[in-house]
Amino acid sequence: MPKVVILGAGVIGLTTAIVLRKNGFDDITIVGKYLPGDDLTHEFTSPWAGASIVSFAFENKLLQDIDLISFQEFERQVKEAPEAGVMHCPGVHYSEIEDPAAEAWAHKLYTNTTSIPKDQLPKGVVFGYKFQSFTMSAPRYLSWLVANVQKLGIAIERGTFEALSQVADHYDGADIVINCTGLGSLFLTDVQDKTVNAIRGQTVLVNAPHIKTQMYREGPDVYTYIIPRPDGNVIVGGTLDYVNKSTVADPAITRDILKRVYELNPELTHGKGPDAFNVVSQNVGFRPGRKDSVRIEKQVRDNHGKKLTVVHNYGHGAHGYQSCWGSAVKVLELLNDGVQLKAKL
Ligand SMILES: Cc1cc2nc3c(=O)[nH]c(=O)nc-3n(C[C@H](O)[C@H](O)[C@H](O)COP(=O)(O)OP(=O)(O)OC[C@H]3O[C@@H](n4cnc5c(N)ncnc54)[C@H](O)[C@@H]3O)c2cc1C
Ligand SMILES: *[C@@H]1O[C@H](CO)[C@@H](O)[C@H](O)[C@H]1NC(C)=O
Ligand SMILES: *[C@@H]1O[C@H](CO)[C@@H](O)[C@H](O)[C@H]1NC(C)=O
Ligand SMILES: *[C@@H]1O[C@H](CO)[C@@H](O)[C@H](O)[C@H]1NC(C)=O
Repeated sequence: MPKVVILGAGVIGLTTAIVLRKNGFDDITIVGKYLPGDDLTHEFTSPWAGASIVSFAFENKLLQDIDLISFQEFERQVKEAPEAGVMHCPGVHYSEIEDPAAEAWAHKLYTNTTSIPKDQLPKGVVFGYKFQSFTMSAPRYLSWLVANVQKLGIAIERGTFEALSQVADHYDGADIVINCTGLGSLFLTDVQDKTVNAIRGQTVLVNAPHIKTQMYREGPDVYTYIIPRPDGNVIVGGTLDYVNKSTVADPAITRDILKRVYELNPELTHGKGPDAFNVVSQNVGFRPGRKDSVRIEKQVRDNHGKKLTVVHNYGHGAHGYQSCWGSAVKVLELLNDGVQLKAKL
């Protein structure tokens, strides 16, 4: 039985470990510099997410496959694993730009998607639809994943490495190393995937237990969203900044976010205006963006005369949650030499 080491304990590393364990890989260790439950740091993306389960896989066939697999798994978890805290959540999506591919994919992927008649759209919006998907609390989901990892007998430990070969050396006898480091490569001094970029996202967590609908408004250069969590708090946002790396929340951006989300749904403050929010926290997270989208790829290397299989699974940008289960299944398929299978999830 091959010995597998997974570098990275974010949503991608944890779900990859679970899928491999349930599909025949018995000897798995997860190792990460940061683990769920640690104090928040800008080097570890997963605790910062909304998280909503939508899809941006308009024209990318691989990502469509991945998101579809993930979507079916979240549907199962709503029914069979209430502890995960994944909830069905109706949604409204507005777009200020014509995008037939995005609209068609939404109708195909989501349950109960219906177009909103043009005369009922807000000013400046060219198309809109109502749909049904899922939302969750990212920190709660991560702790549920960790509990599952432990239940399945997967080791999870802390460790920092500078290269994948160093991981293989440390875990003497590792046959397979999986790179789930997200932004990790950016902070390494020796090797860097130059196409990985930390995309700054500022959000505000507000308390608004009466809000039960996720809402999005997409423009040419703004993306406004409202993501209710099961605990009565709501993540509102956001920004998508490829340049600025400031880790401090900017109060002017917070005001702009609150103004935009209030316009999108005044019910957030019961119609009392954008100054009446019950703000819990202002957040800045960095998405692990990658120029050519995710990298899910297998390489066989020679490591001191021994065969070492490396699989990359990183670069999930703004969609690490919605793509996690499907990405893990793709890793499994690569390890099974590309054989497509009905994985146990
Ligand atoms: C504001 C915001 C909102 C978001 N909202 C959503 C959403 O609604 N839906 C959605 O699907 N996605 C959302 N995302 C995106 C999502 O959070 C990410 O795509 C996802 O968390 C990436 O997970 P990951 O496991 O690849 O990386 P990470 O969570 O960053 O995990 C990386 C792991 O690798 C470890 N590591 C890295 N380098 C090393 C090293 N050299 N040695 C040892 N360990 C190392 C880290 O310590 C960590 O354990 C959002 C992101 C942000 C910032
Ligand atoms: C879809 O709509 C039907 C009819 O309105 C409803 O019965 C069903 O519960 C909806 N499904 C979901 C997942 O919302
Ligand atoms: C993961 O892969 C990327 C791309 O090859 C590389 O830049 C990065 O250093 C790798 N991570 C580690 C810890 O080796
Ligand atoms: C980055 O953003 C911070 C916070 O909004 C701001 O203070 C700073 O001036 C910005 N830096 C650049 C280079 O734009």
